[in-house]
Amino acid sequence: MNIQELETIVHHKLPIKMVILNNGSYGMVRQFQQSYFQERYASTYQGYSAPYFEKVAQAYGIQSMTIGETEESTQRIHMPVTLSIHSNIRDYEAYIEETPDFIEKLGTHPQSCFVVDENVWNIYAKNLLKDLPKEQTIILPINEDRKNLDTVQELYDQLVERSAKRNLTLISFGGGILQDITGFVASTIYRGINWIYVPTTLLAQADSCIGSKTSLNYRKYKNLIGTFFPPTSIHIYTPFLKTQLDADFFSGFGEVIKLHLMGGRDHYHQLVELSPDIIKRQPAALLQSIQQSLQIKLNYMAGDEFDTGRRNLLNYGHDFGHALESTSSFAMPHGQAVIFGMLAANIISLQRGLLTENLEQEIAEKLLLPSLLTRPSTDAMNADAMVAAMKKDKKRIGDYLALIMMDSNFEFIRVNDLTPDEVFAALNILGKRLEEL
Ligand SMILES: NC(=O)c1ccc[n+]([C@@H]2O[C@H](COP(=O)([O-])OP(=O)(O)OC[C@H]3O[C@@H](n4cnc5c(N)ncnc54)[C@H](O)[C@@H]3O)[C@@H](O)[C@H]2O)c1
Repeated sequence: MNIQELETIVHHKLPIKMVILNNGSYGMVRQFQQSYFQERYASTYQGYSAPYFEKVAQAYGIQSMTIGETEESTQRIHMPVTLSIHSNIRDYEAYIEETPDFIEKLGTHPQSCFVVDENVWNIYAKNLLKDLPKEQTIILPINEDRKNLDTVQELYDQLVERSAKRNLTLISFGGGILQDITGFVASTIYRGINWIYVPTTLLAQADSCIGSKTSLNYRKYKNLIGTFFPPTSIHIYTPFLKTQLDADFFSGFGEVIKLHLMGGRDHYHQLVELSPDIIKRQPAALLQSIQQSLQIKLNYMAGDEFDTGRRNLLNYGHDFGHALESTSSFAMPHGQAVIFGMLAANIISLQRGLLTENLEQEIAEKLLLPSLLTRPSTDAMNADAMVAAMKKDKKRIGDYLALIMMDSNFEFIRVNDLTPDEVFAALNILGKRLEEL
């Protein structure tokens, strides 16, 4: 966490629970104290004592704080209990859950119907999900090919058969695909019902769960249909991530990398340091990166929920990414395609003189290439097919192609003058690089 993030949390009065230790995060508080606190509370300041931190908490609306130096608490660096998200549709909360008790409570939610990703059900039916009422639970086999109107209709049928009413609450457990399907259903059936979402993948916990978007694929076009509809609440419980397959986990890590790059140089460096622990799925590292990713996404979404301006920059990596998903007939997992997209976009930034060679290589070698577990097939990388797919981009304006690029100051811009020749050249360079690995 850096000083700007703490400022954002404080500014929005987001309740946070903070564990302050004699390590990096302690240093952060020292910085915070220097810039904001000492002036106002200089007379009561008595070193880094508990009353001092309590004063910080009171002054800045921080809900609670724990100060500890034990081995166990070093595992928990800082943790917001709740992230409050403003939406023009309805405000909502993302809860970071420390125990699975919330699942038992959800099981007793009145007028509810549960939709669980079949793989998640197969793993957790006997333990974490044992309290879900079976007769109210729909198990849905999912994959990217099923993120479409047919599956939505299947779900409408099942809900109508169960005589679902307007006061129904849909509660879904799964990754981004299940989120998109159930979010779309919740936003359309009876013109909108309550929807609680429990994300079970890194991608969904660190990124897609907030932002109000629901998306369906139409024929071979990715995310062509959709609505804006936030869940009523989100419950993030990181132990679900232990059972994710590597390919899917690294897909989520792709979005985590994207958000940390978009958060600026400090976040990028933090992620490079944290990534060995994230990859080991170490709980503190996961929590820290999820929390930071959500906060960075929120900063980009502020004032642009409906994606008409700055929020669009969050599509960094997606121009090539969506095209690759389409040319691979969705064999390429979303976040993996985004990693590919960031590699390609950075090569073009380098060639346009926006990104230095050193930084382009460093980002590729330290984060992007080691996380690209799924290699695209030669057919999927066919340059003509990629250009044709990029032309289908629903946000493209005019004759050229669109691309979001980063520069050496970690600033992001969208250009609308990308030429097919630049795409061919970048794919050529990237293809050779992947062959050499
Ligand atoms: N709505 C949005 O804002 C938004 C944003 C980004 C991405 N997306 C969409 O999200 C989708 C990708 O989501 P994803 O990466 O979360 O993957 P996913 O939903 O495709 O899940 C990946 C695989 O993991 C399984 N799985 C889920 N949770 C598991 C767990 N805890 N343990 C073991 N297996 C588990 C699933 O059954 C599936 O086979 C794409 O369709 C993408 O377009 C949506």
